[in-house]
Amino acid sequence: MDIRDIAFDIYKKSLDSVFSGDSFAEFSELNSQDAAFVKRLVLMALRRQEFIKNVIREYAAKKIPAKPDAVHMTIIMGAVEILYFRTPDYATVNSYVNLAKKKANKFAGGFVNAILHKICRDKDEIAKRAPFPFFPAAFVEILRKDYDKKRINSIERAAVIEPALDITVKQNPDEWALKLGGKKLGNSTIRLYQSGTVNELEGFNEGCWWVQDFSSSLPVATLKNIGGKKVLDVCAAPGGKTAQLINKGAEVTALDISAERLKLLEQNLERLHLSANQIIAADALEWLPHAPQFDIVLLDAPCSADGTLRRHPEIVHTRTISDIRQNADLQKKLLDAAVNAVAENGILIYSVCSMTKDEGEKQIKKFLDSHPNFSIDPIKAEDISSSMPENFNQLISQEGFIRCLPDMLGGIDGFFVARLKKNN
Ligand SMILES: C[S@@+](CC[C@H](N)C(=O)[O-])C[C@H]1O[C@@H](n2cnc3c(N)ncnc32)[C@H](O)[C@@H]1O
Repeated sequence: MDIRDIAFDIYKKSLDSVFSGDSFAEFSELNSQDAAFVKRLVLMALRRQEFIKNVIREYAAKKIPAKPDAVHMTIIMGAVEILYFRTPDYATVNSYVNLAKKKANKFAGGFVNAILHKICRDKDEIAKRAPFPFFPAAFVEILRKDYDKKRINSIERAAVIEPALDITVKQNPDEWALKLGGKKLGNSTIRLYQSGTVNELEGFNEGCWWVQDFSSSLPVATLKNIGGKKVLDVCAAPGGKTAQLINKGAEVTALDISAERLKLLEQNLERLHLSANQIIAADALEWLPHAPQFDIVLLDAPCSADGTLRRHPEIVHTRTISDIRQNADLQKKLLDAAVNAVAENGILIYSVCSMTKDEGEKQIKKFLDSHPNFSIDPIKAEDISSSMPENFNQLISQEGFIRCLPDMLGGIDGFFVARLKKNN
């Protein structure tokens, strides 16, 4: 199958439902160069979709559906190649005319041909424009509940940029920063700016580090002196935080509802030469009411994941208010159930990779109202970084939560962390 045909199918799938970057692996028949091209093309189409829709509007009066149809999808993909990849105009236009005939109908070729020719004519000027909007109106509406226009604008500008690769190292972060030519962030993250195949980088096969966005490392970073402590990782797979906990010497029980995702967790731990005390495939809502007690319970809850929009730009096109409501309902149930597993004077860490306050700040405020035996254990910037903690003050809210947004620290995932204490 033609690689643009494959890219079209992935682009369509990602507009139909949010799916993880792993879905690129479905097309394992592609060699690594073609797979990289497909991935780059789809991600760029998702990042430039709204901007290119506006360009199309300059050339044609025809209405464009909010979710682009097959004709407009082919134009968007073609425009990405012409404007940003600089593939030769003639070959590009031809390929997308044929693709439109195949994916839409045999009459679509003329329209696609006409628009792409105009884009070829004006490409130098269009490519110089700032590529906004990135966020469709419906996604801005979601963010408007919690942030003002200026902040949303700043998030949008940060989120359109392809993110650097963050890794968490088991030890010697300064050495690894030097070896890999990266920059240390916090206590154990190294930020790498070069692209390339992750598993070809030094130390990957030896299990010296794993891929984890800086924000995602913060829930466990807030836990000090946990050697020998009993920790329950309630929503553990694929295991980034499980690995951090074990690496800090905790005795970890890792639980997840998905047996498939737990297989990934096991593979990851094996590569890292780390082992959990117990790995349990179960629905936490059924398991937690009968659970033994733990010194620390980490609930890295399922969420709308809109904080990961830099790497998953499909999220801005697919998230709805109702998704957020559904996630918030499940998070509330998980929080209520987790209470039972926290020992007296124990710690409950709650985290989500979402920017919405319904899943973060407001969720925890409601939880505290209905569980007076829990209180906020305020997180400090020193917990995140032992050197130059003042740089991390911006991540700490007045209440002592961590609130990360993509426009902070040169680009990070949106994330929320609360550290709560169970009182006698
Ligand atoms: C945000 S991910 C966890 C990421 C993980 N903590 C890490 O750092 O790699 C949320 C996880 O919750 C799991 N999950 C969803 N509903 C669950 C439930 N009812 N019980 C247990 N796990 C659940 C999902 O399978 C998913 O792996």
